[in-house]
Amino acid sequence: MISTEPVILKLGGSVITDKGADEGIVREADLLRIAKEVSEFRGKMIIVHGAGSFGHTHAKNYGLDRKFDPEGVIITHESVKKLASTVVGALNHFGVRAVAVHPICCTVCRNGRIESMYLDNIKLMLEKGFVPVLHGDVVMDLELGACVLSGDQIVPYLAKELGITRLGLGSAEDGVLDKDGKSVPEITPEKFENFKHYIRGSGSTDVTGGMLGKVQELLELSKTSSITSYIFNAGKEDNVYRFLNGESIGTRISPDKRV
Ligand SMILES: Nc1ncnc2c1ncn2[C@@H]1O[C@H](COP(=O)(O)OP(=O)(O)O)[C@@H](O)[C@H]1O
Ligand SMILES: [Mg+2]
Repeated sequence: MISTEPVILKLGGSVITDKGADEGIVREADLLRIAKEVSEFRGKMIIVHGAGSFGHTHAKNYGLDRKFDPEGVIITHESVKKLASTVVGALNHFGVRAVAVHPICCTVCRNGRIESMYLDNIKLMLEKGFVPVLHGDVVMDLELGACVLSGDQIVPYLAKELGITRLGLGSAEDGVLDKDGKSVPEITPEKFENFKHYIRGSGSTDVTGGMLGKVQELLELSKTSSITSYIFNAGKEDNVYRFLNGESIGTRISPDKRV
């Protein structure tokens, strides 16, 4: 049976773009494979994708993680918008009714954290069978002028605000890896304390915290809700499909006490 409750899927920039590149380069074969897997899922969903080499390189060059630079904001936003258009194009090619929702148009942050996001359009899109596609972006910030907003922050925010309980971050590793490079089945707030020194930032240019940033965002969510989320490898065939269809793959981030 198909669940009527929407699912939130994040596609990491490390999967859909060549993150080692100095300019925006799409990993076309991976994007098309993922778009096809998404199209085979019949339920409602929101997709959030990372900025990959379309965002992080500009953000770093203009120092957007440290200072307000209007030119850098525009260049970075225009660049991630191009990636969003490519992602939405690939999804529509396979019959997914995807619509880009650019975070800069509907979100205000304060000191880098989401203060408010306009959600009425997203709710209506879900109701009417569209798949809203958000992405890592630069957005206006009440204190900083503008800030870099990671897809990893958008995902738990949407889950909480929209009451969605199934969410997954698809990235380039088999989950959160331990010191031997093996994927850890589960992290809870309690277990995280013994484990956090193995979790680092990104291996490529990423101004928003890499794997540690993901785990922290999801743990925060699990502290204030009973939501369990997943970090899995979207670079491997069928994983996106398996996640969307309810399988437990990769690393599970759970509240300490199961509800
Ligand atoms: N313990 C860990 N387990 C998995 N990945 C880790 C770990 N520590 C650091 N990383 C790095 O974090 C990266 C994932 O973060 P990031 O590059 O931001 O991905 P995305 O593009 O999906 O946001 C991994 O590819 C890896 O280089
Ligand atoms: Mg990242």
